[in-house]
Amino acid sequence: MKVMVIQGPNLNMLGIREQQIYGPMKLEEIHAQMKAFADANGMDIEFFQSNLEGEIVDKIQECLGDADGIIINAGAYTHTSIAIRDAIAAVQLPTIEVHLSNVYRREEFRQKSMIAPVCAGVITGFGPFSYHLAMVAMNQIFQEIKA
Ligand code: DQA
Repeated sequence: MKVMVIQGPNLNMLGIREQQIYGPMKLEEIHAQMKAFADANGMDIEFFQSNLEGEIVDKIQECLGDADGIIINAGAYTHTSIAIRDAIAAVQLPTIEVHLSNVYRREEFRQKSMIAPVCAGVITGFGPFSYHLAMVAMNQIFQEIKA
């Protein structure tokens, strides 16, 4: 079964942007760790990053018939995008919302997620390890679908 990993705006800047919040690890390194987990657990995986809301909506729509689940860090669009929320609701694939930082101990505007209500769950605050936890959860979801 295949998981689509979708990374939103400014996540291509990991390792450069606000290291005191997001740490030193680059996106490619996080993806390499996720790929290793996928390989070890017999999962297919694909990665997509975009700074553009419409491209993220397009990619979610393309998941229909192409992926069995979605792991998404929508970046700042998490807090604003009804369009991304509607796309997730439309495809009806199990979706896990991920954040590196704990958005609930940051600015008030980050404490509202537009997409959480249409996701299976949310993992926030564990740095790059948030993505590993999301992979563990997605693997569990896939096992339950297969059973
Ligand atoms: C983030 C949190 C968002 O509020 C922020 O806009 C990001 C990154 C995180 O992973 O902690 O770009 O999604």
